[in-house]
Amino acid sequence: MKIKVIKDSLLNIEVDTLIVSYFEDEKDMPPVIKAIDAKCGGIIKDMIDSGDFTGKLYELSVHYTAKALPAKRIVMVGLGKRTELDLEKLRGGFSKAAQHVRSLKQKNVATSIDPIPSDVPADKAVEAVTEGILLGLYQFTPYKTLDRDKIKDVESLTIVCEDNKSYEISKAAVKSSQIIAKAVYFVRDIVSRPGNNMTPTDLANEAIKIAKRKNVKVTIINASEMKKMGMNALLGVARGSNEPPKFIILEYYGGRKSDPAGVLVGKGITFDSGGISLKPAAKMDEMKTDMAGGAAVLGTIMAVADLKLPVNVVALVPATENLPGGRALKPGDILKSMSGQTIEVLNTDAEGRLILADALSYAGKFKPAFIIDLATLTGACVVALGNSVAGMMGTDDNLKEDIKKAAFATGEKVWELPIWEDYQDAIKSDIADFKNVGNRDAGAITAAVFLSQFVGDHPWVHLDIAGPAWSEKDRPYSPKGASGIGVRLLVEFLRNRKPAAHK
Ligand code: BES
Ligand code: MN
Ligand code: ZN
Repeated sequence: MKIKVIKDSLLNIEVDTLIVSYFEDEKDMPPVIKAIDAKCGGIIKDMIDSGDFTGKLYELSVHYTAKALPAKRIVMVGLGKRTELDLEKLRGGFSKAAQHVRSLKQKNVATSIDPIPSDVPADKAVEAVTEGILLGLYQFTPYKTLDRDKIKDVESLTIVCEDNKSYEISKAAVKSSQIIAKAVYFVRDIVSRPGNNMTPTDLANEAIKIAKRKNVKVTIINASEMKKMGMNALLGVARGSNEPPKFIILEYYGGRKSDPAGVLVGKGITFDSGGISLKPAAKMDEMKTDMAGGAAVLGTIMAVADLKLPVNVVALVPATENLPGGRALKPGDILKSMSGQTIEVLNTDAEGRLILADALSYAGKFKPAFIIDLATLTGACVVALGNSVAGMMGTDDNLKEDIKKAAFATGEKVWELPIWEDYQDAIKSDIADFKNVGNRDAGAITAAVFLSQFVGDHPWVHLDIAGPAWSEKDRPYSPKGASGIGVRLLVEFLRNRKPAAHK
């Protein structure tokens, strides 16, 4: 979609549709709406006075201007009570309005943030509005070959600003939200692609494409090099599949040479059948999404490079299928991880922590400022927190605090679970250093406790995104399917990072 920012008034714009927002239970119309209403003979005031439209959250109405304005129609969206407005409601409201415009088969939209109260900073408001519209209009259609002409799409969005100041702010905000939305689209696209079209090799090729950007470098480590490095936990999982595993490294250097890089690690299981500990058939197809963490860290490098953020950041993605082939791992097998520690594999379906073990050890090579891993790691995390919240576990309070802030700002929610000593016993093995599963209790936590054994003493946070990576139902600005979770959270976290003081 093309997005333009112009200095003008909604009253003068010739488009299919104007989107305007309205707050609940307000008798006084904001000046922009008053002006539109005056031109249109009071239709909006009539509707509000009659109580047909109250402005409650996500309420929609459509008005035709009958040539009273250059725009053909007005889609009005409720944003709830003015005092309860936040960025999530802005994203959701404008997304719902844009989706309605698309359902009317309209192509060109204009909107303005002028009715939005000034306690929401203008740059944040414009970002939320454009992000909401872009993310809400996402659709995944490459496999549909029939009736392609029936696929509807909004083609252009015009953000109309009344004055110079908001024009300048809006231009910058639109630019950054387009970059971020593009990276979220990338993640949704590759998470949605089925296993036969998103193998470890395909995933590596996506990373290679990202590395065409300035200051980005890609390295793909193949199985024979993994063997030399002792990545036997990753190789162990890969044994059950004929697809060659890949260890993907994307490095972005936008900061000072002396700044230690932050390392982002993402689980890259391109299909998780469970292996010999085979999963039930129902919903096994959803396990094509088991590389959502890997996709998110690649998408983050894409966005960070396009935004030219002044940070150094590395993405690591251990990528393999988890299949029950003739050479597959068997329950009881023992692997020697790259760290040297041994792992008794009691359940081959707890494969994520195996591949992450080697990736987390590898992260140490960068002497990282922090390590954040994202993984669709456990069903237990979904049981604990549901489908829209990621579990957060880690060793560093500052890092956790910064991630919480970014989560709050972006609406990509996280909630902390503890990884106290109490849980260590659960992963002790009788004959190896660790076993890869505990009993059923505290499954999300014992998985994180297992990971912690491979992190070393770097500040570390693990985000279990098994719940929010995929949604069975539409959310306000995330249509059902792959959510693209992680990109907005990590980009916000990286934007907020102050460069370390020079020593
Ligand atoms: N990829 C799954 C976790 C998962 C479940 C992701 C549901 C998304 C939705 C992971 O590899 C897995 O199978 N975990 C097991 C661990 C168990 C064997 C200890 C699980 O959660 O059942
Ligand atoms: Mn599994
Ligand atoms: Zn898995």
